[in-house]
Amino acid sequence: MSGQLAGRVAVITGSGRGQGLVAAQLFAREGAKIIVNDLDQESVTKAVDSIIAAGGEAAGVAGDVANADDVQRVLAAAKEKFGRLDIIYNNAGIGFSATERMGIKMDDTVNCTVEDWQRILDINLTGVFLFCKFGIPLLHDGRGVIINTASIAALKGARNAHAYTATKGGVVALTRSLAVTYGQQGVRANTICPGVIDTEMIQSVLLSSNATRDAIASGTPVGRIGTPRDIAELALFLASDASSFITGQTIACDGGATA
Ligand SMILES: NC(=O)c1ccc[n+]([C@@H]2O[C@H](COP(=O)([O-])OP(=O)(O)OC[C@H]3O[C@@H](n4cnc5c(N)ncnc54)[C@H](O)[C@@H]3O)[C@@H](O)[C@H]2O)c1
Repeated sequence: MSGQLAGRVAVITGSGRGQGLVAAQLFAREGAKIIVNDLDQESVTKAVDSIIAAGGEAAGVAGDVANADDVQRVLAAAKEKFGRLDIIYNNAGIGFSATERMGIKMDDTVNCTVEDWQRILDINLTGVFLFCKFGIPLLHDGRGVIINTASIAALKGARNAHAYTATKGGVVALTRSLAVTYGQQGVRANTICPGVIDTEMIQSVLLSSNATRDAIASGTPVGRIGTPRDIAELALFLASDASSFITGQTIACDGGATA
């Protein structure tokens, strides 16, 4: 298959829905073979089927990014199914509606429970660490691309989501360290900081009414809410050779919200 990612194999975490799913579909259209990962088998199967139905190649492994055994199973599938690993896209994360569904309260430091703090850290930060720890040694010829997902919440203070902002800030700092440590062996690592993106994560919280949608859109310089496709296009650029001189960077994709 031709395309910007022809011949590459990508693992994309949390790609059963939302930004990860759209990136998986775009990467596959650009020639990459995809390992889809998410928590539930149903969303993984659906995502894999959608890629194959569009003429792409994909396989799926359900698993929790915070579980070291699951992470190694997901990564091993890249070699087992497609013979190599080139791109690790750490997209999975929890916040807002996702945390609510899990009974986790996003709160300020004083009011956040120690348990909730730890669970958010486990998924949003330790998950990224685990995929890098076990994934970098598997990269094809030691070379490859890491894309990590933070948030514009990492770039400014937030009143009531301290654990979330701390994990995303941690992702930014970890990514810089990955870039300077493994750059000379041919590994590039960059962080995407999405702004407000229309996915399940925030639909029932930040985008629950037309009034809140309009307020967020009109408060954003480009005058609209972001789409998963906006993020996927940036991720594709960072995954491709077009960005071969870009590493260690933190790139906001937020319609100008942090400008
Ligand atoms: N939507 C936004 O406005 C926004 C803004 C800034 C940052 N982000 C970040 O973008 C990333 C993608 O979020 P999204 O908007 O697509 O949300 P989403 O909730 O639609 O998708 C996240 C996916 O990650 C999966 N996931 C959660 N925990 C997991 C785990 N432990 N193991 C494996 N998979 C897991 C979920 O099941 C889900 O499919 C997240 O890291 C999120 O923090 C989102």
